[in-house]
Amino acid sequence: MKKRLLISALVLIVMLFVIYRISVKTPADIQSDRVGVATLFIKGNCLSCHSANPELPFYAGVPLVGDMVKADAQEGYRMFDMEPMMEALENNGRISPVDVAKVEKVAIDGTMPPMKFYMVHWGSQMTEDKAEVVVDWARNFRTEYYADGLDEDMAGEPVRPIPLAYSNVDARKAELGRILYHDVRLSSDNTVSCATCHGLNTAGVDNKQFSEGVQGQVGGVNAPTVYNAVYNFVQFWDGRAGTLAEQAAGPPLNPIEMASKSFDEIIAKLQADKELTRAFAEVYPQGWSEATITDAIEQFEMTLITPNSRFDKYLRGDDDAITDIEEEGYELFKKYNCATCHVGVNLGGESYELMGLRKHYFADRGTELTVEDNGRFKETQIERDRHRFKVPGLRNVALTWPYYHDGTQATLKEAVCKMGTYQSGVALTDEEEDKIVMFLNTLTGEYQGQTLTNDNVQP
Ligand code: HEC
Ligand code: HEC
Ligand code: HEC
Repeated sequence: MKKRLLISALVLIVMLFVIYRISVKTPADIQSDRVGVATLFIKGNCLSCHSANPELPFYAGVPLVGDMVKADAQEGYRMFDMEPMMEALENNGRISPVDVAKVEKVAIDGTMPPMKFYMVHWGSQMTEDKAEVVVDWARNFRTEYYADGLDEDMAGEPVRPIPLAYSNVDARKAELGRILYHDVRLSSDNTVSCATCHGLNTAGVDNKQFSEGVQGQVGGVNAPTVYNAVYNFVQFWDGRAGTLAEQAAGPPLNPIEMASKSFDEIIAKLQADKELTRAFAEVYPQGWSEATITDAIEQFEMTLITPNSRFDKYLRGDDDAITDIEEEGYELFKKYNCATCHVGVNLGGESYELMGLRKHYFADRGTELTVEDNGRFKETQIERDRHRFKVPGLRNVALTWPYYHDGTQATLKEAVCKMGTYQSGVALTDEEEDKIVMFLNTLTGEYQGQTLTNDNVQP
């Protein structure tokens, strides 16, 4: 009697196991394309934890279990909103390279959906062969998205080289933009130009925690570099400018920065300069206006790119361009999720991300919250956007100290250490930090054929 019960139980277990294996198996016809990965993500129930209004499973109503389910859904959505990507997959829309990097990483690591979820939802587990489908799709996506012709073995990398030359720049407009960029007449008392805070010989930054505008007034947020800003999907930490031209209209009238009353005030001063006005009218027949001034500055900023860093040479196939330790640093950069936010040509500038994803950065900082700490929330007033910032690019980052929007990190090593803690949820070892910093050092590129340097000396 006992024996028969045991045998029945065993048979049942084996049957359940077989059914389980069949349910998690990747169907043979799943392709590494939009339809294929969309199918996998739907099977994985990703949206039940990664969207604003998830469809919760029936047992979400059960006491205790239900609370756990809801907590997961809340935490999942805080971390990652997957709806835009699913919509784009289904409607052939634009997919963010950051979202691609994120889902690829959890597929490789096998962390999503969480085990407690796939133990209940059979078939949702991201097995190795499903992960392979996702990885292949990510590679295809990047090959097409960046169109940079990287060799087979680099085509899947989340970090991409800067194009060797800029395109679509009108050289004559850019030259006028260069002049205006360095022109103090854009400021109320003729003391401050764009270059005061974004010197081209100081890596496009001022190396101060907060910048100083006219009459020594101090702002409340750290100045990002202008080099490679053209690769950011929006400008400013909070993304309040959509284009470089729109951005360039800000500082001249900002009371703390250049403090001009209006563009009319600026134009009156520029008009008095007969020679410049004549040169300007040759290229812009419509003459001085806010639109033409900011267009010229944008054209100039499009030339502020720094290709040919050692890391870019490595991506293009020169294995000797970086050392083994620097390469290890890059591997760590990918292993610890850094390359899920710092992706693409600029290693950032592609998305807004929560500062303090894994641990409360602002509570630990120990100083009072400022308006600027709100980040994207300042613009949208949407609670989920509080403390979300446009991810800064990491090109030439060795030269752009101090770091973070609040300028609190004096050295790159400190900035890397805290990224581990607050964004990736890992305590990096001293050796790992050093290796990542060494990798970041390989991102210093060339401006006009010369390796970028900084005239300021890091304290
Ligand atoms: C049961 C809810 C649940 C499901 C289903 C789920 N996730 Fe998650 N997801 C979470 C939670 C909770 C976190 C945050 C904690 C963690 O990383 O373990 C998270 C984190 C993530 C992250 C962010 C990781 C990071 O560090 O930035 C990504 C990306 C992600 N999930 C993708 C997916 C994908 C893709 C699927 C479907 C294959 C999926 N998730 C299914 C709950 C879920
Ligand atoms: C007084 C110092 C100061 C001056 C002058 C100044 N900036 Fe800035 N710039 C900053 C600060 C600070 C920020 C960050 C502000 C923010 O994100 O809210 C910034 C942001 C930017 C950005 C966005 C970069 C990014 O990654 O988001 C660009 C581009 C830029 N400035 C270009 C210019 C141009 C062009 C001018 C001249 C028209 C100029 N700046 C004048 C301090 C200055
Ligand atoms: C979830 C997204 C995310 C992850 C993961 C992430 N970062 Fe960041 N990183 C950011 C954001 C957002 C900022 C801006 C934070 C701020 O200014 O308060 C930033 C800032 C930085 C800066 C400072 C740049 C500057 O100019 O101020 C460095 C360096 C950096 N990250 C490196 C790393 C490294 C190394 C890792 C991995 C250990 C990593 N990041 C992981 C989003 C991320």
